[in-house]
Amino acid sequence: MKPDRHRFQVSSVIACCISASAALLLTLCVFAPVAIAQEPSDDPGAQEFQAVCSKCHPPDRIVTGRRTKTQWEETLEKMTKLGAPITDDNYDILLSYLVQHYGKVNVNRSAAADIADAVGLTADEAQKIVKYRDDHGPFVDFDQLAKVPGVDAKKLEKNKDAITF
Ligand code: HEC
Repeated sequence: MKPDRHRFQVSSVIACCISASAALLLTLCVFAPVAIAQEPSDDPGAQEFQAVCSKCHPPDRIVTGRRTKTQWEETLEKMTKLGAPITDDNYDILLSYLVQHYGKVNVNRSAAADIADAVGLTADEAQKIVKYRDDHGPFVDFDQLAKVPGVDAKKLEKNKDAITF
């Protein structure tokens, strides 16, 4: 699906969404339906993401870049201020969905739990990464990371995009 989102005018969305006090205007703000089929539908996080995050802009535009957990927290805060229906009930679901699917993490600086979430590792595997870096100093590259004993290199490979050094 090409270039529509590149031509997407941020300023017009702001103007539209913010000034929309009437339901009619909000309706005009809704974009043409976007087919979103990449995510498995049995994932409650995916359902919540689509329900909440597609209200004002196409969700595929959101995920063009990976973000750290902190950056996603900031984004959720910003979207809440813009009027997104993010509540105590769905906040954690949305945050973990975003971190797991569109997260990134620095394996030399982050806590084990954050590495586990963003890279899709077990707590034990993430702990081994932290221990290794404590013993040997910071990782220099992916190859070195992939050799940490007790960590499934296939999982690392699968989520390589989420890993920074
Ligand atoms: C009430 C309308 C609304 C909803 C719902 C909404 N957004 Fe947004 N979003 C906006 C507007 C308006 C902009 C453009 C403002 C900007 O770029 O600063 C935007 C821009 C963004 C951006 C790009 C700009 C940035 O700050 O990085 C991201 C990422 C984003 N939204 C994520 C989300 C996510 C994730 C959700 C679901 C939790 C969501 N949005 C739900 C209104 C909304």
